[in-house]
Amino acid sequence: MSDFSQLIQAAAMHLRTLESRVIDTAIILGSGLGDIAPSLENSTEFSYQDIPGITATSVTSHHGRISIGEINQRCIAVCQGRHHLYEGYSAQQVAMMVYLLGQLGTKKIIITNAAGALNTNFRPGDIMLIEDHINFTGHNPIVGQGDDLGNRFTDMSRAYCADLLSIAEQAIEGHHINYHKGVYSGVMGPSLETSAERRMLAKLGGDAVGMSTIMEVIAANQCNMQVLGLSAITNMALGDDQQQVDTLEDVLRHAAIAGEGMKKIIAAIL
Ligand code: HPA
Repeated sequence: MSDFSQLIQAAAMHLRTLESRVIDTAIILGSGLGDIAPSLENSTEFSYQDIPGITATSVTSHHGRISIGEINQRCIAVCQGRHHLYEGYSAQQVAMMVYLLGQLGTKKIIITNAAGALNTNFRPGDIMLIEDHINFTGHNPIVGQGDDLGNRFTDMSRAYCADLLSIAEQAIEGHHINYHKGVYSGVMGPSLETSAERRMLAKLGGDAVGMSTIMEVIAANQCNMQVLGLSAITNMALGDDQQQVDTLEDVLRHAAIAGEGMKKIIAAIL
């Protein structure tokens, strides 16, 4: 057994002594999306740093805590805050919470993020339902693992669950939510892409670009979870002659706008 899977199993054993419910669905909330957390009944909260082996998060807009509670008699976990490769964490550290959720029985996971638009039809404040991704980070959380936490040669041909995507689309109908479906290009960051890089990512099939999600989605597939991916489009990243300078304030402001629609989608899934 790898050191990593031992660490995950120890963390799961610790949490199980404090919280015996089996998690049905988990949600990971990205930058500026902490406020869209659904309210849980009978909930308990744990800081990441209080779970042995799990690292605290370092980004100020990410809290780093997991809440476990109930909605409609099903057990739901909400992770506020995540680890990123750009913070210097390894791919396995970035995916750690997903592996932990997998050990706690999680069947479905909703992974949210903030992303820049590579597609000219998108606007800041829109939502992209992720149909697929392209991993430009050069990292993979399964490297160095055996099959303890799931198949090392995990199939990724249907990494995002078509059924959850269609539930999300049905939830959107009748609401005034601007949404698209598309491909998420994952980069490491933390510097933003150059304009030439953004034009390249669009040519290679990306509709949006961001610095998270990919490691988590790989881990979720390894753990046989159904995945729904939601991107809050926070800025235009076309790399054309109208390219604006991106600011964190703009990203957070547009994430909040897209977050209103995401809340409705998440409620429909739960
Ligand atoms: N690039 C990468 N990550 C991002 C962006 C972007 O333009 N916007 C929000 N996250």
